[in-house]
Amino acid sequence: MNKDVEKILYTEEKLEDKIRELGRQISEDYQGKEIILIGILKGSVIFMSELAKNIKVPCNLDFMDVSSYGNSSETSGVVKILKDLDFEIKGKDILIVEDIIDTGVTLKYLTKYLKSRNPNSLEIVCMLNKPDRRKAEINVKYIGYEVPDFFLVGYGLDYAEKYRNLPYIGILKEEIYR
Ligand code: IMP
Ligand code: MG
Repeated sequence: MNKDVEKILYTEEKLEDKIRELGRQISEDYQGKEIILIGILKGSVIFMSELAKNIKVPCNLDFMDVSSYGNSSETSGVVKILKDLDFEIKGKDILIVEDIIDTGVTLKYLTKYLKSRNPNSLEIVCMLNKPDRRKAEINVKYIGYEVPDFFLVGYGLDYAEKYRNLPYIGILKEEIYR
C-alpha cells in the first residue's frame, strides 16, 4: 500500500466486480441503441476504460476537460471548460462518465450545458458518490459505490495530480492535504 494512504476502501477486484455489474445494467438499458460515453478528464479515465469493456452495445468515446478544483481538495464552485467534445451530440444517447460526485456543482453545470445541444437522452454514471456533500441537485442513474466524506485517491482519483495510478481506492492521510 502507498505510504500516503490511510486505508484501502475498495480493492481492484471489488471495483472490477462493480464495474462489470454497471456494464451489464447499462448494456441492458441501452439495447438496440448506440451510446456516446463522455469521460470527464482526467479522473474518469481508468473507470471509463474498464466500464467501456463491459458495455455490449456500440459505444463512441469522447472526453471533456473541466476545471473546478485546481490543486486544492475543496471545490471552487467555478466550472470552466478546458476541452469540449469532438463530436456532435444532437439526437444521440449520451452517458456522462464521472469518477466521483461530491458537491455536484461540476455535473450540474455540465448537464445543463450538454442538454442545450439537444441529445436524445443524457444520463450519468459515476464510480463513487459522496451524497453528504451534495450542494447541487442532480439525477445520477448509475452509481458504483456510495462513500463517506473522506478525501479519496486511486483508480483515477488524484490529489494534486498524484495517486491516479493506484489500482485501488484509498483514503488519503490527512497530513498530506492539511
Ligand atoms: P463536484 O463538482 O464537487 O461534484 O466535483 C467533483 C470532482 O471533484 C470529481 O470529478 C473529482 O475530480 C473531484 N473530487 C471530489 N471528491 C474527491 C476525492 O475524494 N478525491 C479526489 N477527487 C475528488
Ligand atoms: Mg473530476
